[in-house]
Amino acid sequence: MSSSRFQDRVLFTTGGGSGLAAATALQFAREGGRVAVVDLDGERAQAVAAELDGSIAIQADVADEDSVKAAVREAHERLGRIDGAFCAAGHADFGPIAEWSLQRWNRMMSVHAGGTFLVCRELAPIMLAQGSGSIVNVASVAALVAQPNNAPYGAAKGAILAFSRQIALDLAPSVRVNVVAPGRVRSGMTTPLYTQRGGGDYEKGAALAAEFNPQKRVGEPQDIAGPVCFLLSDEARFVTGTVLVPDGGETAI
Ligand SMILES: NC(=O)c1ccc[n+]([C@@H]2O[C@H](COP(=O)([O-])OP(=O)(O)OC[C@H]3O[C@@H](n4cnc5c(N)ncnc54)[C@H](O)[C@@H]3O)[C@@H](O)[C@H]2O)c1
Repeated sequence: MSSSRFQDRVLFTTGGGSGLAAATALQFAREGGRVAVVDLDGERAQAVAAELDGSIAIQADVADEDSVKAAVREAHERLGRIDGAFCAAGHADFGPIAEWSLQRWNRMMSVHAGGTFLVCRELAPIMLAQGSGSIVNVASVAALVAQPNNAPYGAAKGAILAFSRQIALDLAPSVRVNVVAPGRVRSGMTTPLYTQRGGGDYEKGAALAAEFNPQKRVGEPQDIAGPVCFLLSDEARFVTGTVLVPDGGETAI
């Protein structure tokens, strides 16, 4: 792997204060790039950006149109260009469908699908004007297979999958758009879930989650950062409109 795959390149990542996007920001920066670390939690974004040379933190809510516009404008002005995007802002919310209000459903859709739409819409003109760009959006295996009590999350992730495929066509040939659909990965989102499932013991809960894949382990954020950085890099120059599934084989069985 080249140590400078992302030399002179800029990544705009949402959800960058934690988990999958923080790991991706770290790898992108280690390979020569600079990152706009965007997160609802400004302090978390700041903590991640402070570790990365030439990178910046921006507080923004991806479900808010003005907030996304301002974040993209600030990143572009301060970093000069935007070559890659990783749309990973999101939250987990599970439960029987009978318990879901329309408001709860709308929040799920507006953060995941709406946030992805807004970021792509704001970044597309910048990347098209530059003549190149690579966008990676995050779905989940929940967009591909059924899981108990996970319908609204699966629907939001399915929307991201379909939306990404559509805009891959619209933004071609200069801008590529792909999706990663991860399986179960340790992160800020899942650590409390697995700890709860393990009766207060994270490792026990993670071991139960690991039973769903042939590798018999829960992924680490770095396991997703690698595939995302591949899609962001020139090595994936002929890859667009597709979905990469780093899930330890969960959807193969
Ligand atoms: N961890 C997994 O097992 C897993 C599996 C499949 C998909 N995903 C998806 O990956 C993405 C990243 O999740 P993660 O696991 O790294 O979780 P995480 O909780 O570690 O990170 C998510 C980040 O998104 C931020 N965020 C939440 N809502 C936001 C908003 N409205 N605007 C801006 N930022 C916001 C949070 O503050 C947090 O820092 C999510 O979209 C999640 O659905 C995660």
